[in-house]
Amino acid sequence: MPNNEIEKAVAILRTGGLVAFPTETVYGLGADASNPAAVKKIFAAKGRPQNHPLIVHLPDASHLARWVREIPIAAHRLGERFWPGPLTLILHRAENVPDALTGGQDTVGLRVPAHPVAHALLQAFASGIAAPSANRFGRISPTTAEHVRAELGEQVDMVLDGGSCDIGIESTIVDLSGSQPTLLRPGKISASEIEEVLGRPLAQPGPLSPRAPGMLSVHYAPQTPLQVVSGKALAETVHRFSAQGKRAAVLAYHHAPIAGANIAWFAAPSHAAGYARELYANLRRLDQSKYDVILVEQVPPGEAWDAVRDRLVKAAVSKEDF
Ligand code: TXA
Ligand code: MG
Repeated sequence: MPNNEIEKAVAILRTGGLVAFPTETVYGLGADASNPAAVKKIFAAKGRPQNHPLIVHLPDASHLARWVREIPIAAHRLGERFWPGPLTLILHRAENVPDALTGGQDTVGLRVPAHPVAHALLQAFASGIAAPSANRFGRISPTTAEHVRAELGEQVDMVLDGGSCDIGIESTIVDLSGSQPTLLRPGKISASEIEEVLGRPLAQPGPLSPRAPGMLSVHYAPQTPLQVVSGKALAETVHRFSAQGKRAAVLAYHHAPIAGANIAWFAAPSHAAGYARELYANLRRLDQSKYDVILVEQVPPGEAWDAVRDRLVKAAVSKEDF
């Protein structure tokens, strides 16, 4: 990434504009986190409800003090172990943190990304950049600069192109603001890796937990209805749709291809990391082929697939919608 690209991006951020940038997880839609007017532009561009809080990206952990009331020991430990990297921590916010950023909540989400372009941008900006995933609200997160341009186009002042995101799904979110550390969103960094550092188990979010992704019924969703189907039931399901004259696109990671006039077959990687890396690009591709239904072969049990399974469940529509 040439230096003048970064300088241009910093100038846009300083004047309250929007810059989309790559992270190791997905592309973010960034604005100066200290500027409420700039932060509001993010909500407008995404079509996101104002009460849905944003993550603040920091150049390094030394910036935490500006954004949080106090830094608990657990945050120090997790930051030391996993930052820069795909981990977001929810902490009690400092008083001067704009309400626009946190949806009026008493907490703020923070992360230090590892991608070299994100890092260069943050270093040059030398302050917090608020950035949700750079997609329309509820839709599929972008993992390439083209995805961002196709979806947000004119609404972004600049897109920094850092190629395809390596991890491909959003960061793990751990809430450290309550009495028990809680996993709000699974990601590449697993629950057990976090538990090992904390020396205690993570709680799962309860019904009264702060607003987190997946508290919404449909998220990360293609426009075509998506259904997750076990490997065992896949052939029968495909044939049932086919018999109804419906065209089905199938995303399989293990099942042998099923041929048929109404069937498009896509093979996903069989390892969790590769599957995650390609997941959103695959979902976009499946969506664009304008099939009547997307059938995703259920992924295996076990922690390695937790984050992928979470995204698939949220991308799926309920059975009644068919
Ligand atoms: O990997 C990622 O985390 C990407 C990249 C761009 O960093 N960002 C991302 O942001 O996924 P977003 O806004 O699409 O998802 C962050 C989620 C939001 O859905 C929000 O519900 C939750 O984090 N969140 C943010 N601040 C929070 C807070 N104070 N309390 C509870 N949840 C919060
Ligand atoms: Mg998002």
